[in-house]
Amino acid sequence: MLEDVEEILLDEDSIRAEVARLGREIDKDYADKRLHLVAVLKSSALFLPDLMRALTVPVTVDFISVSPYGTTTPAGVVRIRKDLDEPIEGRDVLVLEGIIDTGLTLSYLLRNFRTRNPASLKVCAFINKRAQRIIDLTVDYAGRDIGEQFVVGYGLDYRERYRNLPVVGVLKPSVLDRHR
Ligand code: IMP
Ligand code: MG
Repeated sequence: MLEDVEEILLDEDSIRAEVARLGREIDKDYADKRLHLVAVLKSSALFLPDLMRALTVPVTVDFISVSPYGTTTPAGVVRIRKDLDEPIEGRDVLVLEGIIDTGLTLSYLLRNFRTRNPASLKVCAFINKRAQRIIDLTVDYAGRDIGEQFVVGYGLDYRERYRNLPVVGVLKPSVLDRHR
């Protein structure tokens, strides 16, 4: 897998440090609360368990899975493949994303979640492509901000591969070209 990566943006130590920093911030803000984590699958699959272990506040967890919008679907239309198991009404919800790019997926989800009347609703993303945003979105807890490069690893995929790479790296253009 690593041979398909042209540059490592976050090695295992940097990932640990970033998760620990986010954990401290979240811990502080939710000190007197009961935090309900909503993990967006599958990109948060490695981030969630790491972040959970970095938190000392009591947490509950739920999962949601969405289908990526295609080029044929209108911008920002997202299909929910697997919805939350439990209601979020009255709960302090923190949505976890592995990466935010245009922001379309997450803003759709946030709009949807708001209609379910949570007590509070915040966002935590491990990788933030802030410059790529085409819709206004507040990321309350942001990990590493990166440019427009397509990255894989630490839960992030290219065509479902590379999720188990323990680092975050930029995929070689030749790998992307192979599929054009
Ligand atoms: P958005 O709706 O454009 O913010 O896209 C969010 C989703 O696109 C993420 O949850 C990822 O699944 C995927 N995505 C965006 N950029 C990358 C990347 O660089 N690597 C892997 N997946 C990405
Ligand atoms: Mg993907």
